[in-house]
Amino acid sequence: MWTREPFALWSVTALGLGAQRMSEGAIYKAGWTLDDVDWAAFDASKVDHDLLCAVKAAALVELNAPDYVVYLKRVYADTRPDAIPAIEHWGTEEVQHGLALGRWAEMADPTFKLDAAFQRFRAGYRPAHFTAGDGSVRGSRRGEMIARCVVESGTSSYYSAMRDATAEPVLREVAGRIAADEFRHYQLFYKILTTETEPELPLWRKIYVAVTRVNEAEDDELSYAYYAANVPADKTAEIPYVRKTYARAYHSKAMVLYRRHHIDKLVKMAAKPAGLNPSGRISALASAALWRVLSHRAGAPTAPVSPRTA
Ligand SMILES: [Fe+2]
Ligand SMILES: [Fe+2]
Repeated sequence: MWTREPFALWSVTALGLGAQRMSEGAIYKAGWTLDDVDWAAFDASKVDHDLLCAVKAAALVELNAPDYVVYLKRVYADTRPDAIPAIEHWGTEEVQHGLALGRWAEMADPTFKLDAAFQRFRAGYRPAHFTAGDGSVRGSRRGEMIARCVVESGTSSYYSAMRDATAEPVLREVAGRIAADEFRHYQLFYKILTTETEPELPLWRKIYVAVTRVNEAEDDELSYAYYAANVPADKTAEIPYVRKTYARAYHSKAMVLYRRHHIDKLVKMAAKPAGLNPSGRISALASAALWRVLSHRAGAPTAPVSPRTA
């Protein structure tokens, strides 16, 4: 069974990522609950509309974690039963992220109803690997864990960027707590990867899995979550879902949060499980390229949403 190791928020030396500081301000430990958040500190005057749209979408994606738990348990059930309790615990924390973000969004926009928006998201988004097949869609358990590490690198960086971008104190706390959890998730999946009994993958295959997972950020998950979260049910007839439109809308709200150091951290984290030197030249080039792409997307045009959204 996996043990929960003590976690140093700003030391990732053990992972070979350097002594980069991983968080700013408060240090949030694992095992927090919604009751630990200082909801009374909410300041409506500091809510940013664009950020609110992004938070609503993130809440829906996080809440969808139980489907990933079922999928990952299917991948590991017969081969790595020791990983199952950690996967279940991971899913519980992801759901809590969705509940925390959703509660904040309902405070910021009383017309937003998390449950209803989530039901609409579930009705419109269900990837095939949730419902079919036995093994990992990445071709191996090692590939699965590389992909999971890439995702947790992305979420850790994203919520760090969100925390640093907002002046609203409750969102700042919630995003800080989630960013710390996401980094611990990265550590968890990296540990599962490095204790794997499967044969090592060739470097090209590791890079292929990592890049493929990064590119899947283009699929319907984020764009449909943005649509379901920001276009009310009674407006869907006049404002239909168009993937490209809502992918652009999501990017225009989310990518603007990043600063260069968030991207550097993301690439360093993702490079390690892909078999690359986090501080090497390829990582530096990838970071520069990703920064250029995100900067471009941050300026992408937005999409129609209901005037009911705050
Ligand atoms: Fe999460
Ligand atoms: Fe996570």
